[in-house]
Parts: sequence; C-alpha cells; structure tokens
Amino acid sequence: MNPQTTGKTIRPAEIRAMKQRGEKIVVLTAYDASLAAQLEQAGVEVILVGDSLGMVVQGHDSTLPVTMEDMIYHTRNVARARRRALLVTDMPYRSYTSAEQTLENAQRLIEAGADMVKLEGAGQVARFIEWLSQANIPVCGHLGLLPQSVEELGGYKVQGREQAAADKMVEDARALQAAGAEMIVLECIPMSLAGRITEAIDIPTIGIGAGPGCDGQVLVSYDLLGLTAGKRPRFSKDFLRETAAGQGIQEAIAAFVEAVKQGRFPTEEHAFK
Ligand code: KIV
Repeated sequence: MNPQTTGKTIRPAEIRAMKQRGEKIVVLTAYDASLAAQLEQAGVEVILVGDSLGMVVQGHDSTLPVTMEDMIYHTRNVARARRRALLVTDMPYRSYTSAEQTLENAQRLIEAGADMVKLEGAGQVARFIEWLSQANIPVCGHLGLLPQSVEELGGYKVQGREQAAADKMVEDARALQAAGAEMIVLECIPMSLAGRITEAIDIPTIGIGAGPGCDGQVLVSYDLLGLTAGKRPRFSKDFLRETAAGQGIQEAIAAFVEAVKQGRFPTEEHAFK
C-alpha cells in the first residue's frame, strides 16, 4: 500500500463495489495540488494524473514526449492535496517496454504517491499487468483510442467500429481483467461496444468518448473548465460555461459530478455510434 494512503482513502475494492451497486464512478484529471484540492472538495472518487499533461500543461501535440520524471513530479504535487480520492497515475510512453522496467517504473510512481498505475493497450501489456498485480501494485487498463500509439493508429480516431476490432476489444478487456486489472478506461469507441465490454467484465469501465453505458466517466479537467486551447473534443463538455454559467470552478466540477452520478452526462450527443 502507498505510504501516503490513509484509512479514509478510497480503495480499489470500493470502486468495484460501486459497479456492483450501479453507482456511477466520477474520475477527473489533475496535475497540481490546487486543482486536486478542488476535485476532493467536489467528492470526485478517482483523480487521474494523466499523461494528457503533455498536451494541456506542457503544450506538446501528443503525450509521447512525457517522461517518468514529469509523471513523478506531477504525482507528488497531486498527492500532497489528496485526502479521500483514489490516485491513479499514467505510466508514460516507453516506460513499460519490459516486465522489469514496468515494475521498476510503477514502483517509482507508487513511491511518489500513486495508489494505482495506468497502462495503455493489451497483448504484451496484459502480461506486464499480471506482473504488477502479482507485486501488489493495482493497475488500471486503457483500451480503444490509445494516445501513446497515435502514430500507429493514424491519428485521434474512433476505434472498434469494425466487427473484428470490436470482438478483439471485448477479448482484450477480458484478458486485462484476468491479468488482475482493477478497472479499464475505454476511450473513443462506439457506445454499443462500450456497453458490451461493461457487461462482459466484472471490473469497472471508465468511459471517455464511450457513451453513457460505462460504469464511470472521466474527462480532462481542462476541457471541463474551458481551458483547452483550440477545438475541444466532441465527447467533452465545458461545464464552467454551459452548466455552471460561469459561476466558478467549484460549481463547474460539482455540476460534472452531479451530471455523471445522475446519468445526465455523457448523452448520445457526446458519444460515437
Ligand atoms: O491522460 C489522460 O488524461 C487520460 C484520460 C484521457 C483518460 O488517459
């Protein structure tokens, strides 16, 4: 267990129990202590130190330049403000290319304050997840659009539209669960496929651009607060402007929490067919 985890911290078992109860799980990204404190105040259950920080904090056009040192630095900052939420940190590009390297880097992130690490993909990654689980390091998987593989995928495109790709993703989700993953992020896939995967596994699915049928929802907080430069992804929503009517950051985060809990976000408008 992470040394900074207290008795009051949400554990992975509680997140699984939420799926069983049918209670939606609210996840948001944070990269610093101030935003993490706001998420805590709004009752967000999972804080993700996402490697999306490469784009929204560092100004790169992908997550590929993000390093282990970056993730450790931002995890430490968020961990100082963490009280109750489960803290998940992304393992950055090329930080999990062998079982030994995966274990060593995951341990560094846990020492920095993460409760769980997130890895993108299946296949060989499922074996690394098994390795981490056996070392008692909780893991979140990530299927669908994999930003660290954006070059191989030919851009930021919806994944799993063809039958064979959809069937494979269901099998991959089962394989990640069998390897010991505690939950799985599903990014940019048709909502019918997200529903199928959510039914097929016992661990929670957390959607982003995957429609309303997932067990929980995640957004990049900068999208929710209207801070993202340029065109905002279709699956996200500026809660500060559209729902909280510019009242304030805390109101916008609270509006997101309430909308997810009540099944009002995402709607089909934010989903892919
Ligand atoms: O890096 C990130 O913020 C993520 C979310 C988009 C799920 O992985």
